[in-house]
Amino acid sequence: MSYKVKDIGLADQGELNISWAEDHMPVLGIIKQRFEKEKPLKGVTIAASLHCTKETSVLIKVLQAGGATVALAGSNPLTTQDDVVAALAKSGTNVYAWRGQTKEEYYECINSVLDYKPDLTIDDGCDLVSTIHNERKELLKGLRAGSEETTTGVIRLRAMEADGALKCPMVAVNDTPTKNMFDNRYGSGQSTIDGVIRATGGMLLAGKNFVMSGYGWCGQGIARRASGMGARVIVTEVDPVKALEAAMEGYRVMNMEEAAKIGDIFVTSTGCKHVIDKHHLEVMKNGAVVANSGHFNVEINIPALEEISDKKIRVRRDVDEYQTKDGRKLYLLSEGRLVNLAAADGSACEVMDMSFANHALVAEWLVKNDLETKVYDVPGEIDHMIASLKLEAMGFGLDKLTPEQDKYLNSWDEGTV
Ligand code: ADE
Repeated sequence: MSYKVKDIGLADQGELNISWAEDHMPVLGIIKQRFEKEKPLKGVTIAASLHCTKETSVLIKVLQAGGATVALAGSNPLTTQDDVVAALAKSGTNVYAWRGQTKEEYYECINSVLDYKPDLTIDDGCDLVSTIHNERKELLKGLRAGSEETTTGVIRLRAMEADGALKCPMVAVNDTPTKNMFDNRYGSGQSTIDGVIRATGGMLLAGKNFVMSGYGWCGQGIARRASGMGARVIVTEVDPVKALEAAMEGYRVMNMEEAAKIGDIFVTSTGCKHVIDKHHLEVMKNGAVVANSGHFNVEINIPALEEISDKKIRVRRDVDEYQTKDGRKLYLLSEGRLVNLAAADGSACEVMDMSFANHALVAEWLVKNDLETKVYDVPGEIDHMIASLKLEAMGFGLDKLTPEQDKYLNSWDEGTV
């Protein structure tokens, strides 16, 4: 057992934060109780690369309660909560993560957890799986399967599958309804706004032109919350159906060329590269704030921002002021990394409860089943079970089909009466 964290002395505060999260994650609590009795993960080694938050810590404890040995690294250089990893390390978890890593340190930690020779992986962004496939191929022999938390990671897995490069079964947790309809929409929605507000020291959204680039589950959630706070939301998209959906939801829809000239606050959540590019940065208003809540820090062309600027000042922990050569100030939040996790706490416990319940139950399912090498969806029974447990925990009732209704829904002979 070993660890590498910033300051083990932060463990007491980390423990309090983890216990707060546990109290708000009832579905994981129920799974933990069963795992303690049944030990479905006994003898299983799990390597995880996840944002190291209080919510992630609750998942790690559930996996350990199930009998697994877990090694944890971050899934982004800027999103680790140092107090939380200190608490995990103190209580005996193999954890390698701290906030503010260089790219080299980040990959050292990824490799440290892979040194545990995992049977299963849990990834957020596919860095574990792609490192195994590219540089640590010897681990493929022992690797049974893995699960993936985020849209970007699933896109990478599906590209590997299409290329014939994928060598191990993987489960796309991101794509299951109890994950993306809640964590992506409500979790990223709220926490991205929270990140922008916290980073800027409380910038007012009311009356501002808020440009939302990307109208997937996360973009929808962010746009809704920005609008609810009085911002005038503009959506940019490449998908005509999503653009239409945004228009009919009441937002202005335009291309980034136009939006760049009028936006006050820009948030990207597209999974794509350079959606805010040099020519957009060149026409932005003085004082524009630019942030990203997609997985990688490539959505904003940061090298171009550096190139058009002659000075950069860190004005707050999560705000860099770029002074452009033509005399404007542009503000980049959290170095273009996930603003919802770097400047705020990420998706709330209440929705991470469902996302991480999926990983826990999928780990059990992966151990019990021999699968083909492909990307799987989460089995429908797991998704439904999580939704039912969550509803029950929230105290909301559910109707039950009568036998007559069940028969009706499964027949085709009753029509117009
Ligand atoms: N992804 C988004 N929010 C998160 C959180 N709170 N913990 C871990 N991963 C996350």
